[in-house]
Amino acid sequence: MAPRKLAAGNWKMNGTLASLAEIDRLLADHPAPGCDVLICPPATLVHAMAARAQGRIATGGQDCHARTSGAHTGDIAAAQLKDAGASHVILGHSERRTDHAETDAQVAAKAVAAHQAGLVAVICVGETEAQRDAGQTLDVISAQLAGSVPDGATAANTVIAYEPVWAIGTGRTPTNDQIAEVHALMRDRLAARFADGADFALLYGGSVKPGNAAEIFAIPHVNGALVGGASLKAEDFGPIIAAL
Ligand code: G3P
Repeated sequence: MAPRKLAAGNWKMNGTLASLAEIDRLLADHPAPGCDVLICPPATLVHAMAARAQGRIATGGQDCHARTSGAHTGDIAAAQLKDAGASHVILGHSERRTDHAETDAQVAAKAVAAHQAGLVAVICVGETEAQRDAGQTLDVISAQLAGSVPDGATAANTVIAYEPVWAIGTGRTPTNDQIAEVHALMRDRLAARFADGADFALLYGGSVKPGNAAEIFAIPHVNGALVGGASLKAEDFGPIIAAL
């Protein structure tokens, strides 16, 4: 089985009910995309988006708690996302790792919870600019993969997104060779650890735009993208979906 191609949008802390009109536009403009399409809106919109997309676009959360229920004010359980209509959840995004001091071990625990709830975990890894400048990129990615991806991961329940922290929202992207190097490393590490490691979808994320998507998608072991800013409007996300 070859990895499935996935165009994923991360709306981050953007959007209100009115933003769901973008879903209608996407569906109208791209009625039969050649890849899976996923949008992860804020938690407030998960239920409404899933209802609006009718399964033609998958809906995901942006985080979940490692526990199934209890006294965790402000948190959301994986099963609650599932109940609201989500099929995926982003975990370990660098903004969570930075803003909420999330560790690899916490990300792995959340991924276990996501899998138990029947969600696909989209696990993010990525180096900072200082780490890249220090020549530590491959070590950082290896360590994050080892620590954040739980033993029960399979190609069916887990997607890995490589998002260099310095490329997120900056308009800067790594060179094609730099992306290729990290994706080849991720493929090797996953294949060495999991029976179906060759089949995990590997996404690139960080300043993906309509103008650079096709070039990035041509890089070996890039099976799609996790898109932030350019996923908010159908006029930007649509051409990215079409390029995949
Ligand atoms: O999760 C996607 C994200 O971090 C990339 O954001 O705005 O650079 O596409 P952006």
